[in-house]
Formats: sequence, C-alpha cells, structure tokens
Amino acid sequence: MKDKILEVSAIKDGTVIDHIPANSLFKVIAILGLDKICNKITFGTNLESQKLGQKAIIKLSDIFFLDKDINKIALVAPQAKLNIIRNYEVKEKKVVEVPDEIVGIVKCMNPQCITNEEKIITKYQVVSKKKVKLLCYYCEKITDQDNIVII
Ligand code: CTP
Ligand code: ZN
Repeated sequence: MKDKILEVSAIKDGTVIDHIPANSLFKVIAILGLDKICNKITFGTNLESQKLGQKAIIKLSDIFFLDKDINKIALVAPQAKLNIIRNYEVKEKKVVEVPDEIVGIVKCMNPQCITNEEKIITKYQVVSKKKVKLLCYYCEKITDQDNIVII
C-alpha cells in the first residue's frame, strides 16, 4: 500500500526528475534555470530513498529537455533518473550522463583563477565522471564534486 501513495501529485505531461540527492536540489534548480520559467513545477525534498538516504524530486509540467541540457545536472545529481510523462503515463526513462566538457555553470574553486578576477566564462575538462572532477582550462586546478558552486 505504501508504494501507492504519491508524495507529490502525478503530472499529465512533462518531465519528472527523480533520485536527486536532497542537498543538490537547489543546485539542480539553478543549473536548469527553473527560477526563470512560468510552467507549473512541483518539488518534494527530504523524501526517503533506499539508495540516497534522502532524495528530492522535481516535476515539470510541459517541459521536455534536450539531452545536452539535462546532462548538466549530472554534475550534482549523477544518479538522477528522468521520466518522460505523456498523458499521465511514463513513456520513457532516461539516466543522466556527465558531459566531457563543462562551459560556464561552475565556479573555479581556485580564488586566484583569472575567471574569478575577470569576466571570463569558466571552462573545464571533466577528468573524472564517477566522483566528478573538473580540470580548469585556465588555471589547471581541479574543482571536485563536493566543492561545486553554481554561478
Ligand atoms: N510520475 C508522475 N506523474 C505521472 C506518472 C509518474 O509524477 N503521471 C512520477 C512518479 O511519481 C515517479 C516517477 O514519475 O516519481 C516514475 O514513475 P514510475 O516509473 O511509475 O515509478 P517507479 O516505478 O517508482 O520508478 P523508479 O523505480 O524508476 O524510480
Ligand atoms: Zn581556474
């Protein structure tokens, strides 16, 4: 019976992003720019999850992402699962994949980096995808998953 209770209401059409670590919810919101859209959005956070301890979920009505856009959230939510909903049914399930290169989005954790002193868009090569490690193109310092700050 417990399985049948939806903690956040079902949606008719759109994208459900499930299995977000609870402490990454607001970073996911920032990466996807969800504070700037007018669509209906529902959230749940600090929900129980066997895999993550506490998870968050985001339900976006009438929004469907391109893979290259949604994959950016893998930086902070590598285990996130996407569910594409059409007419109340789960039509497709997808996982996110960490891209090979990240442009913008993340602040370089080296305070001396030129990107923190001048108006330069950050750029990184992803040198580890399991526990994310980003190699700054400008200062060659590593910014790792625990230190990711969204610009
Ligand atoms: N969902 C929704 N609206 C719908 C259908 C599904 O919001 N009309 C949500 C569910 O609440 C769930 C997710 O989409 O969070 C995936 O649905 P489903 O595959 O039915 O759930 P599970 O089997 O629990 O998925 P998984 O084990 O893959 O996480
Ligand atoms: Zn740098």
